[in-house]
Amino acid sequence: MEKRTLGSKPMLYPMPVTLVGADVAGKPNFMTIAFIGIVNMNPAMVAMGANLSHVTTKGIVKNETFSVNLPSKRMVEVTDYVGLFSGETVDKSRLFTIFRGETKTAPMIQECPLNLECRLVQKLSLGGTDEIFIGEIVQSYCAEEFLTNGKPDVEKMEVFVFSMNDNRYFSLGEMIGKAWSEGKKFIPHS
Ligand SMILES: Cc1cc2nc3c(=O)[nH]c(=O)nc-3n(C[C@H](O)[C@H](O)[C@H](O)COP(=O)(O)O)c2cc1C
Repeated sequence: MEKRTLGSKPMLYPMPVTLVGADVAGKPNFMTIAFIGIVNMNPAMVAMGANLSHVTTKGIVKNETFSVNLPSKRMVEVTDYVGLFSGETVDKSRLFTIFRGETKTAPMIQECPLNLECRLVQKLSLGGTDEIFIGEIVQSYCAEEFLTNGKPDVEKMEVFVFSMNDNRYFSLGEMIGKAWSEGKKFIPHS
């Protein structure tokens, strides 16, 4: 099959969709972040690419804490709204029910099935459009109804994912296998 080159673009599919929160001038503010992922097991760390011009980003730099909130597919409209409109022009502090954890300054969203409370450990400037923020996950929160055997269950949480460049959201498909298990059936070509 012949391949077409598509250029140097942020193409990795799908991407998670998260709502990242920080306090700004004493009020919670949120931005939608898709450039995000777990980057360390122990201590648990998350890294994200966020533009310094965002209001939320400024709050993260000031307080050195932030939250990562995983919305369910029922929250697709408010999630997109948060990513469309800046706290510069709209008040996003009343969109959600807020709760706080041990850091006190990382506002978390009650309506999101999973919340990660993070302390900023490093900010890296790559000279591009976005800065890299690395946060240690100091605590995580999930309601009992979204757990199976004590672990967050993506089916119960009804998470959704994002397709970059064509700007589409998708709900999760069916489970197709077990990790660290399916590979045992695989027979490599000799
Ligand atoms: C689906 C989606 C994904 C986004 N992902 C990112 C991202 O990874 N990094 C980023 O800096 N901005 C991202 N944005 C843009 C910000 O969420 C947006 O500019 C937001 O309004 C900033 O809000 P604030 O200025 O109130 O902090 C995304 C927006 C959408 C709709």
